[in-house]
Amino acid sequence: MQRGFFITLEGGEGAGKSTHLAFVQKWLQQTGRKVVVTREPGGTELGERIRELLLHARDIDISSESELLLMFAARAEHLNKFIKPALEKGKTVLCDRFTDATYAYQGGGRGVPRERIALLETWVQGDLRPDLTLLLDVPVEVGLERAGNRSAPDRFEREDGEFFQRVRKAYLDAAAREPERIRVVDAGQKLEQVEQQIAKILQEVIHARK
Ligand code: TMP
Repeated sequence: MQRGFFITLEGGEGAGKSTHLAFVQKWLQQTGRKVVVTREPGGTELGERIRELLLHARDIDISSESELLLMFAARAEHLNKFIKPALEKGKTVLCDRFTDATYAYQGGGRGVPRERIALLETWVQGDLRPDLTLLLDVPVEVGLERAGNRSAPDRFEREDGEFFQRVRKAYLDAAAREPERIRVVDAGQKLEQVEQQIAKILQEVIHARK
């Protein structure tokens, strides 16, 4: 059996990730694929508890290094218990964020050296990488304005504009390094136009894989 397709969705604040994730899921299902949707950090019982800590721990200070290690602890669990088994069964795995987010947030945002992240990536993932990553890109000011009316911002959402500029730059640098895998979607456009861009990429990539 052919291994399933592994697709990840990435983007900064206010890029419309949830809306577009639902669109991608529906699009893939309409091609007859069995699609499982998951997220990082999270996707397993332990992973969701780690997520809770990483996003909502208010009373403890988490260093950048511990944050990085917790992201990968959640990822190891997620890969072994959920992602790999699903791919082996031929399912399409659609994951809301993955290791590109670590390079963007812990690397770009927090300033953790890339080599350190790369080391953990190889250790935890071996040679497993997403087949396709859709990067929903929106200028930081636009994204923050869109996301601005969220009532209870999490540990990351509380960061300032400069942090998110570094996150965005790290994402775009990654896309420039790996243009085949990481496809940039201009998420600043109207909803239908963003969906058209996404559908075009999916069509192209899935067609090429057959
Ligand atoms: P979100 O999935 O609702 O956007 O929230 C997840 C948050 O976690 C988001 O602010 C990005 C952050 N994150 C990292 O900092 N590193 C990672 O490796 C992942 C997967 C997420």
